[in-house]
Amino acid sequence: MSHRRRSSSPRRRSGSGRHPGPPPAGLGEAVVTIDAVGGQGDGIARHGGVPVFVPQTASGDIVRVELRPRPGGGLDGAPRELLAAGPGRRDPPCPHAGACGGCVVQHLADPAYADWKRGLAVDALAKAGITADRIDPLVRIPPQSRRRIGLRARKTTRGGTSVVVLGYTEPRSHRIVDVATCSVAHPHLVGLLPALRALLCDRLVEGEAATVALTRLSDGVDLVLDMPRPPGLDDRMMLSDWADANDLARLSWRSAGTAPEPIAHRRAGTVLFDGIPVRVPPGGFLQATEHSEAAIRTAVTADLAGAGGAIADLFAGIGAFALPLARSHPVLGIDSHPEAIDCLLSAARGAGFGERVQGEVRNLFDRPLEAGELDGLAAVVFDPPRAGARAQAAALAKAGPPRVVAVSCRPASFTRDARILVDAGYRLTRMTPIDQFVWSAHLELVAVFER
Ligand SMILES: C[S@@+](CC[C@H](N)C(=O)[O-])C[C@H]1O[C@@H](n2cnc3c(N)ncnc32)[C@H](O)[C@@H]1O
Repeated sequence: MSHRRRSSSPRRRSGSGRHPGPPPAGLGEAVVTIDAVGGQGDGIARHGGVPVFVPQTASGDIVRVELRPRPGGGLDGAPRELLAAGPGRRDPPCPHAGACGGCVVQHLADPAYADWKRGLAVDALAKAGITADRIDPLVRIPPQSRRRIGLRARKTTRGGTSVVVLGYTEPRSHRIVDVATCSVAHPHLVGLLPALRALLCDRLVEGEAATVALTRLSDGVDLVLDMPRPPGLDDRMMLSDWADANDLARLSWRSAGTAPEPIAHRRAGTVLFDGIPVRVPPGGFLQATEHSEAAIRTAVTADLAGAGGAIADLFAGIGAFALPLARSHPVLGIDSHPEAIDCLLSAARGAGFGERVQGEVRNLFDRPLEAGELDGLAAVVFDPPRAGARAQAAALAKAGPPRVVAVSCRPASFTRDARILVDAGYRLTRMTPIDQFVWSAHLELVAVFER
């Protein structure tokens, strides 16, 4: 998009290629004024009474757009020219902003950005008709602190030379944006990108694709490569040398849905949860930044300090909440990932409170913790994947303890589960929105329910 009034404009967006397949036929151009920013980060204007969704715009922006029918209703407005900037706009810090689908709202300045992010929580509750006694201010997380990133890679030819395109995908597309830098990722991870590109150029053949998961642990970087074939002897030797040269903690190879196979294992691969060392399985779940993990833990544990009795941590992972809680409470940690529960239990033993922690491998979607098992618990914490925990919420509604703490990275599934609890007599006493995924439309929530 070109910009008449500002020297440093949002990136030019042709709009073509944003949708897989050919874009729908255009309906011509229009000049619109952005009234608000929607839940997915697009600016929303009206044209002839019809909502128009315009990416990379802020409230008050006046934009010339090319209109197209929007699947599901309304119109898509591909931005062509920013005629006047609204008060909430700024120049995004990242050179890839706009093109890269990782950050959709880098162009929003504070306080517009923080208000919009916190508003996602407020709006989600309002839409579900749920009242909270208190909604905390947004907990801010610094950029350049993301400790885990997932990238796509593809080997291709440019100007007769083989190259690897490595980065995130474009918004609503599978096309990879080749990134030289990233404003949200930790610089340690960004610093590995050139060497990774060279490695993948060597290991992939023309047209092959791979995905790359980089996680910064306390004792080094853990790399999991999803490759199109099993590793050969050559791959093993080269990757092992590469892990040495780049001082990785661990490097694993995964192909065709197999478990990641560590090829170089140079250090234990641990993190500290509130000072407690825990081994992380290759590709195992960790909250996106250390700051957000600490903020979530603080919000989870704040109201549980005085809870007398045992606490269940459901969808516990390797114990980001269970282990610190076990300093003062008996804890039952449940997760479907067997290696995660192994790591949790051995960390508890190592920290000297193994007898206070029980672990169970269990699919809580199919077999939620039910009445009988829930009896006598002082509190339950649950932190499911994006799909939420409908069955577990229903079981808690029937027989849950006086206090339930829900952690969620998806307000839509959270409000569905919260509705179940509220209908069963729980009161939402506090909600803490945490900006774990800075400049994206994702929001982390911690919510405390009591009855
Ligand atoms: C959002 S993570 C939370 C992990 C942990 N609370 C933390 O903060 O590190 C969700 C966890 O749910 C687990 N999980 C996914 N599906 C599950 C299921 N059906 N039953 C039990 N656990 C599941 C995953 O293995 C993962 O550890």
